[in-house]
Amino acid sequence: MKQININICIQHYQLDELNADDRELIERALKATENSYAEYSHFYVGAAIRLANGNIMIGANQENAAFPSSLCAERTAIFAAQANYPDQAITTLAIVARNDNGLLDDPVSPCGGCRQVILGVEDRYKSPIRILLYGKRGVYCVASAKDLLPLSFVDASMG
Ligand code: THU
Repeated sequence: MKQININICIQHYQLDELNADDRELIERALKATENSYAEYSHFYVGAAIRLANGNIMIGANQENAAFPSSLCAERTAIFAAQANYPDQAITTLAIVARNDNGLLDDPVSPCGGCRQVILGVEDRYKSPIRILLYGKRGVYCVASAKDLLPLSFVDASMG
């Protein structure tokens, strides 16, 4: 038996330690929570994406009475970005969430489906996506969706 240890690196920043571009992206994600339609969960998520050309696209979770027909903030932003700018890689993604009591204390963590989609975009453009997860106590930063999804399934996994 061999043990496989996988190292992942999560950087934990205070907001004022981030550069202006990253702070701007987090602000845009925070603002995007206002566009969330979270009638059922009352969990308002905003995502902001910076493209390689510098453009920012936002997304917010959109819920539906038929719950599985809803979509997370990250995927609304990513799919809109790809539909509008198919030739642009995504360099950074920021995610912010709040509930009816306000912003979360701890960094919000994307669901498994969104991690898979982010990874698929990295794979498509052969370019890692930095991910910023905002919480009032600090911001987690990972250099790639691979850090959120070890042993991941991508095109190459099919041989
Ligand atoms: N949600 C997101 O938009 N992003 C995540 O990363 C986690 C969950 C949404 C889906 C649903 O509208 C609500 O949050 C509660 O799960």
